[in-house]
Order: sequence, then structure tokens, then C-alpha cells
Amino acid sequence: MKFFIDTANLAQIKEAQELGVLDGVTTNPSLMAKEGITGRNNILKHYVDICNIVDGDVSAEVISTDFASMVKEGEELAELHEQIVVKVPMIKDGVKAIKYFSNKGIRTNCTLVFSVGQALLAAKAGATYVSPFIGRLDDISTDGLNLISDIRLVYDNYQFETQILAASVRHTMHVIDCAKLGSDVITGPLSAIEGLLKHPLTDSGLAKFLEDYNKGN
Ligand code: G3P
Repeated sequence: MKFFIDTANLAQIKEAQELGVLDGVTTNPSLMAKEGITGRNNILKHYVDICNIVDGDVSAEVISTDFASMVKEGEELAELHEQIVVKVPMIKDGVKAIKYFSNKGIRTNCTLVFSVGQALLAAKAGATYVSPFIGRLDDISTDGLNLISDIRLVYDNYQFETQILAASVRHTMHVIDCAKLGSDVITGPLSAIEGLLKHPLTDSGLAKFLEDYNKGN
């Protein structure tokens, strides 16, 4: 299972990389704006900065919504760095663009996926990753984890190679539940990954070991 961090914050990306369990980064226009990264050139430079910190895949999102512009933009993004995966929204022209990129050997992440039908289309088009947004489904009283389970079933039925990238992961239980359901990747905040560390028995056990060690010294 791969762990991606869902942020454009370089300090957090460095911190996650140093933990030694990071497999990649996902970003989107909102995450870029949150870090104050605006303007095409600054955004492109920021993607390269991220690639220089991490070893794995870095999703870079197109902002065009028509096929020709998506292709132009995606090819420009893919040329920035070998770690770049072109992130394409689940719309009709996006499906066409994913198929085009797939034929050219350019890796893609199909984003804004909220149904198993959309995930099926993404796989048929040859997406490298599909990104179901589980937190945003939970936000509207729809179980996001059910979607992960349904996509896993459909992909396994036909041996689709598209990797399920559970996105909009908000907390540590999302990570654990996605692991149980066979999601290939999760992307979320660093806090969701670091939450996996925590157990009170670990803390109290360590405190006791140190206390007992110090008795003899
Ligand atoms: O990876 C998708 C993500 O950026 C959306 O997360 O928390 O805004 O729903 P969120």
C-alpha cells in the first residue's frame, strides 16, 4: 500500500519524506492556492520543487476542461519531471484525454471520482490512478468507504491495472479502513499518517521501560 501526502506545503512534504514511508504527493489547485502559489510559472516551479523532495509520484492537475487544451497542458506538465503524473478531472473530455495520455505512455490520475461508474470509465481509458474522494462523500452522508470497496470489486473482476488512490482522506481511521478494503494508495494530511503511530500502551510501556532502566543507573 502506498502512502501519498495531499498537500503543496513543502515543509510538510519534507517532514513526511523524512519519516521514510512516503510514496508520493498529490496536489490540486486549491492546495496550491492555500500555500499562496499562484500564476502558471510559479505553479510549475513548485511541482519541480516537490519532485526534488520526494522519490515517488507527484500528481499535477490540469486546469483546462476541453480535450485539446488538456492534452497541451498535460504534455507540458509531464515534461517537467519524470515523477509527474498528470491529474485529469472525470469529465467527458477528461476521459478522452486520459486515453490519449495512456496511448502515449504518460501516466494519469483521474480525479473528482464519486461513483463506481466513473471509476470504471477511468480504468477503461487507461488511467494509472483513480481518485475517489471519500471524505467529500462522507460530508454528504454517503459512505465513502463503500465506494472504495465497490471499485476494488469491479477492478478485481476484470484485472484492471488502474490503482485505487483513496483521496480526500481526512483521518487515521480512513487510512486503516482503506488498507482493510485493499485500496492501493491513500492520500491525506500528514496527521492521518502520523496518527497510525499512536497508542497509549506504547507510551506508558516506553515510560516504564525507561523508568526501570534508570533505576539501575
Ligand atoms: O485528494 C483530494 C483532496 O485534495 C480533497 O480533499 O479534504 O478537500 O476533500 P478534501
